[in-house]
Amino acid sequence: MILITGADGQLGYSLQKILKKQNRPFAATDVGELNLLDFPAVEKYIADHEISCIINCAAYNDVDKAESEPDLCFRLNTEVPAFLAKTARKYGCRYVTYSTDFVFDGKKGSPYTEEDEPCPLSVYSKAKRAGEIAVFDKNDQSLVIRTSWVFGVANRNFNKQVIGWAEKNAVLKIVDDQISSPTYSEDLAIFSLDLLDRNGSGLYHMSNDGEASKFDQAAYLLNRIGWKGELLRAKSSDFPLPAERPAYSKLNSEKLEAAVGKKIPSWQSGIDRYLEEMNEQ
Ligand SMILES: NC(=O)c1ccc[n+]([C@@H]2O[C@H](COP(=O)([O-])OP(=O)(O)OC[C@H]3O[C@@H](n4cnc5c(N)ncnc54)[C@H](OP(=O)(O)O)[C@@H]3O)[C@@H](O)[C@H]2O)c1
Repeated sequence: MILITGADGQLGYSLQKILKKQNRPFAATDVGELNLLDFPAVEKYIADHEISCIINCAAYNDVDKAESEPDLCFRLNTEVPAFLAKTARKYGCRYVTYSTDFVFDGKKGSPYTEEDEPCPLSVYSKAKRAGEIAVFDKNDQSLVIRTSWVFGVANRNFNKQVIGWAEKNAVLKIVDDQISSPTYSEDLAIFSLDLLDRNGSGLYHMSNDGEASKFDQAAYLLNRIGWKGELLRAKSSDFPLPAERPAYSKLNSEKLEAAVGKKIPSWQSGIDRYLEEMNEQ
């Protein structure tokens, strides 16, 4: 049975949906059922259940708050993934966990591959990078998937923020100097399971095809929902935030596409399907 941790989040929700469709048994836990900071409870859960694979979707994802809460961020993004990696090895389970495009400093100017050297800029991204290293140190059969700008129907994300702002404002200003790729949590779930089913281990990048600035993402989304307001370009310096972000962090996902033998859909297709999924809810 697959154990999903952090199952109420964006990716966790999508994994549950896909696994249900595939009629595969899984246990879905979030902090209420299994607090990952409670290591003895986590180990007991894994020892007591027939877990063949752990997919860790839990994380500390508040990039700005992490600057003033580094201890909690490092516990959730470094120590927890490493403990799960060690425990998975001890109990003979497969193990998947996630990292971020923010491990890069954004200076490369073309899509980052798994071979590129990370240079994290913020507390959040330093904790994620330390998590990657610690996970492989504890369990070299781990699968670590870096992704970017995730959106899905569960939990908070930039799409939901933009729709909320658009409901209240006739004019919106969105930054056009941060570029990466929005990634639909359902595509991330599907490609993660495909990799697992092919016994994937090691480091992979997964983001939807194409690249976009926050402005491009908002423009596409607002057009699709028929918003009649005015969208203006802004710069990151117009909205100073505690955490530094890479200006360009598009991930090259060709290694993953080659491993599973199919192309990752575009981010625009991801947004279209996200809106359909939101409407179905
Ligand atoms: N979101 C992005 O844009 C993005 C970008 C790059 C990489 N990633 C990575 O992709 C993965 C999936 O992200 P996501 O967006 O699906 O995350 P998410 O929506 O924030 O979900 C994470 C889940 O983990 C839960 N959690 C927090 N602390 C926990 C604990 N102590 N024990 C158990 N569960 C706990 C959260 O609960 P609360 O909500 O109550 O805290 C939440 O339900 C993460 O590793 C993330 O860092 C995400």
